[in-house]
Amino acid sequence: MSKLPTSFMWGGALAANQFEGGYDQGGKGLSVIDVMTGGAHGKAREITASVEADKYYPNHVGIDFYHRYKEDIALFKEMGLQCLRTSIAWARIFPNGDELEPNEEGLQFYDNVFDELIQNNIEPIITLSHFEMPLHLAREYGGFRNRKVADHFARFAQVVFERYKDKVTYWMTFNEINNQMDTSNPIFLWTNSGVSLNDNDNPEEVLYQVAHNELIASALAVKIGKSINPNFKIGGMISYVPIYPYSCHPKDMMEAQIANRLRYFFPDVQVRGYYPGYAKKMFEQKGYQIGWQDGDDEILREGTVDYIGFSYYMSTVVKHDTETLVDNNIVNGGLPNSVENPHIETSDWGWAIDPEGLRYALNVLYERYQVPLFIVENGFGAIDKVENNQIHDAYRIEYLKQHIEAAIDAVDKDGVDLIGYTPWGIIDIVSFTTGEMKKRYGLIYVDRDNDGNGTLERLKKDSFYWYQKVIETNGENLGE
Ligand code: BG6
Repeated sequence: MSKLPTSFMWGGALAANQFEGGYDQGGKGLSVIDVMTGGAHGKAREITASVEADKYYPNHVGIDFYHRYKEDIALFKEMGLQCLRTSIAWARIFPNGDELEPNEEGLQFYDNVFDELIQNNIEPIITLSHFEMPLHLAREYGGFRNRKVADHFARFAQVVFERYKDKVTYWMTFNEINNQMDTSNPIFLWTNSGVSLNDNDNPEEVLYQVAHNELIASALAVKIGKSINPNFKIGGMISYVPIYPYSCHPKDMMEAQIANRLRYFFPDVQVRGYYPGYAKKMFEQKGYQIGWQDGDDEILREGTVDYIGFSYYMSTVVKHDTETLVDNNIVNGGLPNSVENPHIETSDWGWAIDPEGLRYALNVLYERYQVPLFIVENGFGAIDKVENNQIHDAYRIEYLKQHIEAAIDAVDKDGVDLIGYTPWGIIDIVSFTTGEMKKRYGLIYVDRDNDGNGTLERLKKDSFYWYQKVIETNGENLGE
């Protein structure tokens, strides 16, 4: 007897901008990611003014799913996926973002992809915006600093909800809407919201203005979606990196409590439909003027989400009497005083490996919000070696196995309502933060390197066969 309900959805997760390619095909406009160069370990991705001939932009080809979707979906079916989380590239539908009429060729592309998935018994789970708003909205409007962009987003949502209302049930509005709370790294505000900071900006104030416009856009989309198909399940999507106190020192406890607001601010509004007291107090104390319009309270109240989709990769730790060193190896999650957790290991990219933290995350989120949860990203970015056309990725299997065990415990022992699990980058794709191919998450290998060399041939890794069994047994057989 499986510990998970039979309705549990096993799948894989991807995002248009990181795997589709075809960046200028089918009438698509440029998006914010199309002007981001490849980075690498220790080398940041550059945001260029336009596409420059002598620079390399890894997302332009991605893994060329645009031309190979049938072959890839056949592999997903063979793996046993029951659902596929992906996103719609906004600039395929509205190349500039502010047109009144959509681009039919872009709409047709997603009809083809969704039909192919459905024919293969794979349910599409769709994020409306995953790091690829039209570049024109970023450059000409200032991205989500500008309230008009919320209206353009609502029109985009309306068009795709209408078009795919019989093909898609599960939607999410903005991917990792909260990762832009880390204003120390300019790529987050840019990719989430099309915003660049100026020298005289107060980054925090800009962030909350952007946040308000995006929360309005998300709520408008929910309202529109429900009026088109009341059976839609529309979720928010957050990056959830739990913040632990370093010790039981009361000051560490309070430090963690306050830092956690960075994680909860967006879902607090998206689930409850109103701003939390701590945010209002902070605006008042800091004198932030957040452009609130008449009727916004109502929009937020009426546009609450049905579930929370979240990514889980790692946890972090804060200590009240320390300052994070900029050049250390830990990923600080935008926190000025995070320290290494002495009890856990980290990946090659410095991400803390903490399976128990997933059970903790599921409990915290479920107790706080009491809505169903969906793990829509989790995975292990690592360097893979191909030997005789095989990839023995025992490290990835181990990571996924431990995290699935933790998720099962949260359902079975703690009573969390969990919809499903879609590991990130089910097939190798371009990494978001570093723009590399070398940081691989896939259970299917793609022959392509950081500089764009390779045949793009697909190969099944050991984890492919392992996950096949996990799905077949609804999580009962996780291997040795
Ligand atoms: C999340 C994003 O931040 O983490 C994905 O939603 C991203 O788009 C994933 O790819 C993993 O990050 P990275 O930088 O290792 O690709």
